[in-house]
Amino acid sequence: MIQLRHAIWLLVASVSLIEVGIAGCTQKVEKNAKATKTSGQPQTEEQKIKCQLDAPYLPTPENVVEEILKLANVNKGDILYDLGSGDGRVVIAAAQKFGTQGVGVELDPQRIQEANENAQKAGVTNRVRFLQQNLFQTDISKATVVTLYLLPEVNLKLRPKLFRQLKPGTRIVSHEFDMGGWKPQRVVKVLGPKQGENFLYRDESCYTILLPDEQREHTLYFWVVPKNIPNSLR
Ligand SMILES: C[S@@+](CC[C@H](N)C(=O)[O-])C[C@H]1O[C@@H](n2cnc3c(N)ncnc32)[C@H](O)[C@@H]1O
Repeated sequence: MIQLRHAIWLLVASVSLIEVGIAGCTQKVEKNAKATKTSGQPQTEEQKIKCQLDAPYLPTPENVVEEILKLANVNKGDILYDLGSGDGRVVIAAAQKFGTQGVGVELDPQRIQEANENAQKAGVTNRVRFLQQNLFQTDISKATVVTLYLLPEVNLKLRPKLFRQLKPGTRIVSHEFDMGGWKPQRVVKVLGPKQGENFLYRDESCYTILLPDEQREHTLYFWVVPKNIPNSLR
């Protein structure tokens, strides 16, 4: 619990919360409090799904998406999986700029709908698809590039699956969070734009948090799946 809270604060980085609102499944929220207390059950189907999420929705700024694709050296022959794909922006940008085939995996139906609309607007529906699925239950063995923007403990939980299912040589980029003992080959820092966002995360319950419109540095981590996985990392 403390770790998850810590991760949320990492996710918002140096940003301090200015306002905390109620997402529906939260009955009590303390303003500006790190020790936010919650109780209560989700009331609607939508709230239930939000409360199942392993990471909040917080879209990657467009300029950071570009750096992710550059770092992964994405090209036309790639099949890119974004695990927790939000509004589809990483998958769509890769398809638009590099002609990549892409798959977005996303549990939240609202985000899936947005992603499909965005793919339509971008004219890339022939190259991308969005699966409303739990990323832990998705077969990712066809990926040549995997992108992540989750949470530290979710990356760690995902690591064995990445080693089990991905081919050697598959490139992985994680926005903001590392993979514990699996040291990245490269780390890149990118200054994001000013951006105020609403996002949701799961704790014992769910919150909507409004972030102030402040600029911050984003960290990107890059790995290549090795042929031989050290036993210590499995
Ligand atoms: C921080 S957002 C990143 C969105 C997008 N990848 C981007 O970079 O803009 C994380 C996303 O993961 C989704 N998510 C969280 N847990 C998930 C799970 N178990 N399976 C699929 N999607 C999940 C959330 O709904 C959210 O849209």
